[in-house]
Formats: sequence, structure tokens, C-alpha cells
Amino acid sequence: MATLGLIGSGKIGSTLARLAVDAGLDVVLSNSRGPETLGELVAELGPRARAGTAQEAARAGDWVVVTIPVKAYGDVPREALAGKVVLDTGNYYPARDGQIAELDAGELTSSELLQRRLDGAHVVKVFNNIFFTHLAALPKPAGDPARSALAIAGDDADAKAQATDLLSRLGYDAVDIGPLAEGWRYEPGQPAYGQPYAEKPGPDFMAQPAGPYSAAELTALLAATER
Ligand SMILES: NC(=O)c1ccc[n+]([C@@H]2O[C@H](COP(=O)([O-])OP(=O)(O)OC[C@H]3O[C@@H](n4cnc5c(N)ncnc54)[C@H](OP(=O)(O)O)[C@@H]3O)[C@@H](O)[C@H]2O)c1
Repeated sequence: MATLGLIGSGKIGSTLARLAVDAGLDVVLSNSRGPETLGELVAELGPRARAGTAQEAARAGDWVVVTIPVKAYGDVPREALAGKVVLDTGNYYPARDGQIAELDAGELTSSELLQRRLDGAHVVKVFNNIFFTHLAALPKPAGDPARSALAIAGDDADAKAQATDLLSRLGYDAVDIGPLAEGWRYEPGQPAYGQPYAEKPGPDFMAQPAGPYSAAELTALLAATER
């Protein structure tokens, strides 16, 4: 049996937990306030779900999703994640996260910042560029012509293979765009941020219903993206 650990159980974390349970995975949820605050969500998700501390979610997960504000990266349990595949959904928003010099300067992507802290883990950047309602709406079985693709970036080939396996189970294809340093291509403000998965791509993507976006379309968009 495979387990998805979640550090963060908000809009994206709870959406991924639902997709994982639907795919037959076990999930361990965590947040900043403690497992006792996640009872309602665990009850909704059913017997495959339980809540724990961030440490427990990290240790239990075959994959571990870090889905919290970037300003909280310093709290992510470093030792418990050593050797793990860590899926980073984070986006840097200075108004929420405060100013972070390396990110302001464009020297690092936010996932490289997390990788630097989690030096024993294998960070893969994924799920950061899709609005949570679209993430919930778009999964399709492998081979379905309407299956959507999500971008992955990471420095470890095996971790990206494991991320691709998870995406496939959750109902998505993966487009590997290279190392973590290439993750800027789908960070906030880029054309691949949010818009592709809206029915009518545009700056109001959050107000739009979901629309599928294929691996071929995503590959072309990311290749054409300029800094
Ligand atoms: N919303 C979207 O559609 C979307 C899409 C793509 C990517 N993202 C990015 O993904 C990340 C999560 O977004 P979200 O919208 O899901 O946020 P959210 O709904 O505000 O949820 C954040 C979660 O992180 C937890 N958390 C905060 N600080 C923590 C800490 N120090 N340790 C453990 N857990 C902590 C919160 O727990 P408590 O509630 O207990 O504090 C909450 O469960 C953000 O970086 C966001 O920019 C969001």
C-alpha cells in the first residue's frame, strides 16, 4: 500500500488528499495547528485518511507534499524527509511571505530554496501552477484524450520518475522540464501559471471553470517562455 504524506492541508493539500484517496492511496494529513484540528477533513476522506504531526506525515509518506506558504519552509522537518521524494507546491508571494532576497533577485526558484533546506531530500516542483478547483476537476484516466499534463522540475531523475507515477495515479500526465533551476518557467506571472487549466485562459483564470491542457500544449508553452 502506498501513502501520500501532506505537510499542509489547506486548499491544495486537501484537494490532493481527495485525489489520492480516490486513487486508492492512504493519506496522512498535517498542518500548523495540530492533528486534532483536521478531524472533519479526515472524517470526510474516510478510512484511508489520518491526521498527524508534520513529522509523522513526513515519515509515513512514500511521497510527501509540502503545501504551505513559502515563509514557513523553515518549519518543514528536515531529518524526517531525508531520502524522500518531496513535492513542492509553493509559490512566493512577498505580500504573504515577506521579502526573500534570493527570490527577489531571481537567483533561486522557490523550490531551490526548499531543496537547500532539505538537503537530504529530493524536491520536485509540481502542482504550483494550477488553481485548486481546476486540480480537482481535471483528472482523467491514462490514455484519455482529455487528460491534462502538469509540469515537473527536479534535480533527481528517480524522484521525477516517482513524481510522474504519482501524477499518473492522480489522473495527470507529467511534462519534465529539467532541473529545479528551470522551475521559474511556471512560477507566478508566467503564461504557464494558472491560465492553461482555465476554460478560457486569461488573467481571470481563478474565476473560470477548468479546461484540459495536454502534454503537447504544455511542452510548447514552457519552451516558448522567456524570462
Ligand atoms: N490555492 C491554490 O489554488 C494554489 C495553487 C497552487 C499552489 N498554491 C501554493 O501552495 C501553497 C499552499 O497553498 P494553499 O492555497 O493550499 O494554502 P492554504 O489553503 O492557506 O493552506 C496552507 C496550509 O499550510 C499549513 N501550514 C502553514 N504553516 C505551516 C507550518 N509552519 N507547518 C505546517 N503546516 C503549515 C496550514 O495549516 P494551518 O491552517 O493549521 O495554519 C494550512 O493547512 C502556497 O505556497 C500557495 O501559494 C496554491
